[in-house]
Amino acid sequence: MNTTPAIELRGLCKRYGSGDTAVDALKGVDMRIAPGEVVGLVGPSGSGKSTLLKSLGAVIDPTAGQMFLGGEAIFDGVWKVKDLRTLRRDRIGFVFQAPYLIPFLDVTDNVALLPMLAGKSNKEARRRALELLEALDVAHRAKSNPSLLSGGEQQRVSIARALANNPPVILADEPTAPLDGERALAVVKILNDMAQQHQTAIIVVTHDEKIIPTFKRLYHIRDGKTYEESVST
Ligand SMILES: Nc1ncnc2c1ncn2[C@@H]1O[C@H](COP(=O)(O)OP(=O)(O)OP(=O)(O)O)[C@@H](O)[C@H]1O
Ligand SMILES: [Mg+2]
Repeated sequence: MNTTPAIELRGLCKRYGSGDTAVDALKGVDMRIAPGEVVGLVGPSGSGKSTLLKSLGAVIDPTAGQMFLGGEAIFDGVWKVKDLRTLRRDRIGFVFQAPYLIPFLDVTDNVALLPMLAGKSNKEARRRALELLEALDVAHRAKSNPSLLSGGEQQRVSIARALANNPPVILADEPTAPLDGERALAVVKILNDMAQQHQTAIIVVTHDEKIIPTFKRLYHIRDGKTYEESVST
């Protein structure tokens, strides 16, 4: 890889708790992901997948190791970035298994909220939201309450929300879990298209046998350590 990786992890460790009850969830994880690349992360339950995403997403504090975004050290034993809220808001998009849409905002405002919080005018934020909803083929639901949407539609709205601030990194934890095969593959295609168009680096945690063959590069995590599998095409 010649370009600066969008994401790089070196020797990342996370220990929950201390003393006798301590759990070493990550035991020295190494990963490199280029801009525009979508990689899969698979492993048994409890192997540390969510812990890895939460560490990278600055939701929890790693214990040791290094994390770089676009070549910048954001963590090196301690956080190197002062304002973690801004880091989360502007540089990382999250897609979860459950869409977690805000029930009292319509679909457009669910997507427009983050750009508004980042300082965009309401008009500009809504324009951007509609553009994404169109790209994700849910614009016809723009004025609906999210609870009225199907599972697949809700998940596409949550992807639009993750993309709204055009972050260089998207972290998706089981994004296709609630979807049937066809919808799951559609979501993966959207993530791949978005990665290509915006040079976004995307990590997709999944158990989903249907989508695993779509990844060009796959990381396995077992007992807190990652192993890379090159997929021959
Ligand atoms: N807040 C916590 N406190 C203590 N231990 C935790 C905490 N969160 C996770 N763990 C432990 O860390 C390990 C890794 O958990 P993690 O949630 O990262 O696994 P996972 O690979 O995402 O599993 P799943 O596929 O079930 O979602 C597990 O042994 C888990 O019990
Ligand atoms: Mg998990």
